[in-house]
Amino acid sequence: MPTPTASPNRADLEALWMPFTANRQYKSAPRLLQRASGMHYWTPEGRQILDGVAGLWCVNAGHGRREITQAVAAQLETLDYAPMFQMGHPQAFALANELVKVAPGGLDHVFFTNSGSESVDTALKIALAWHRVRGEASRTRLLGRERGYHGVGFGGISVGGIAANRRMWSATLLPGVDHLAHTHDPVRNAFSRGLPQHGAQLADELERLVMLHDPSNIAALIVEPIAASGGVLLPPRGYLQRLREICTRHGILLIFDEVITGFGRTGSPFAAQEFGVTPDLITLAKGLTNGCLPMGAVLLSKPIYEAFMHGGEGIELFHGYTYSAHPAACAAGLATLELYQREGLLTRAASLAKYWEDAAHALRDLPHVVDIRNYGLILGLELAAIPGKAGARAYEVFTRCFERGVLVRQTGDIIALSPPLIIEKAQIEQIFATLGEVLRAL
Ligand SMILES: Cc1ncc(COP(=O)(O)O)c(C=O)c1O
Repeated sequence: MPTPTASPNRADLEALWMPFTANRQYKSAPRLLQRASGMHYWTPEGRQILDGVAGLWCVNAGHGRREITQAVAAQLETLDYAPMFQMGHPQAFALANELVKVAPGGLDHVFFTNSGSESVDTALKIALAWHRVRGEASRTRLLGRERGYHGVGFGGISVGGIAANRRMWSATLLPGVDHLAHTHDPVRNAFSRGLPQHGAQLADELERLVMLHDPSNIAALIVEPIAASGGVLLPPRGYLQRLREICTRHGILLIFDEVITGFGRTGSPFAAQEFGVTPDLITLAKGLTNGCLPMGAVLLSKPIYEAFMHGGEGIELFHGYTYSAHPAACAAGLATLELYQREGLLTRAASLAKYWEDAAHALRDLPHVVDIRNYGLILGLELAAIPGKAGARAYEVFTRCFERGVLVRQTGDIIALSPPLIIEKAQIEQIFATLGEVLRAL
């Protein structure tokens, strides 16, 4: 069976409808990645590309880690698949136990899924069901935030706040969802280093929504501690703490979507620990297996789990996936957690954050740069949009960086960076030198 080569025929690319991709634009000038190791990809022509995005915010320990791939291969040879409905296998329980050891205190239980989108829909369903089993069935409303990204399931796009992801399905989104304002305030917070100073009071809008709908009708609020896909929007200092206080006061569950911030991205294992705010549920995926197999998880507190463990002996939650806790994904997860711990990767971002920040902010006076924001090993570099062509400038930067051997991510007119957590200082220099060159030449 032929595989696409360095210059594939357009016709060979047509069968595949690519996700979140401008298919016609891509297929007229395709970019292919053929293999990867450590901090790098290689194209079919043999060009080396420095990975500035950890694949898609997921390959936190770098590519091709033998410890993980060998554990997966061995697992598949031993047990390729096992059902998890009324059955189990040892690796599933082992991974749940290892995960709660690194999780924020109090989040003692795990439900496995296969992706971030499934984790989000699972967390929303658990939140709704929890209120119901405790006799507060009127709590059916869900709250999200503008510019939030929570995957692409109907639950996720309903609580999500990215207009383009909702537009086509507007009439069929979940009913009873409301949104907080996003926290992006470039007038007061442009070029902040770390968490922005201004905007904690934006959390008070939650109080307003709670008063409008009445607490007795609200089940949960879901937010990303750092909104990544919506443009790398950082929480103002004190903002997450205030959300926590208001949720607690009104009996509303707080869900942190840590699909991106989980597993060391901020400098702590989870953003909840980094920011000192413990939610009731956390959604995870991506870094859980170092991106090498699809897997997601929902972490949840003991009171939530235990509320379901009463009554008859039957099934407590009618929810789950054929591939929940797939043996190969569990083996990948176990090997990944071991690797993260052995190499100190869950906290390594903290030791590089200042270097990363200084290197990034050195670009602030370059043409078209209107903001640079950073935290841990995350960066958002915002460019002035070309009038009438939103996203075009950043797309140009993305393609030119790729031509010069650095993979960055474009979202709107923002360049987002989140390299593998094994990155070295010289590679940080390379990323920003390349970005700088490209911006100067625009
Ligand atoms: C915060 C957040 N939640 C959920 C998702 C969805 O994850 P997946 O693409 O694995 O469904 C993503 C993906 O980028 C994400 O960033």
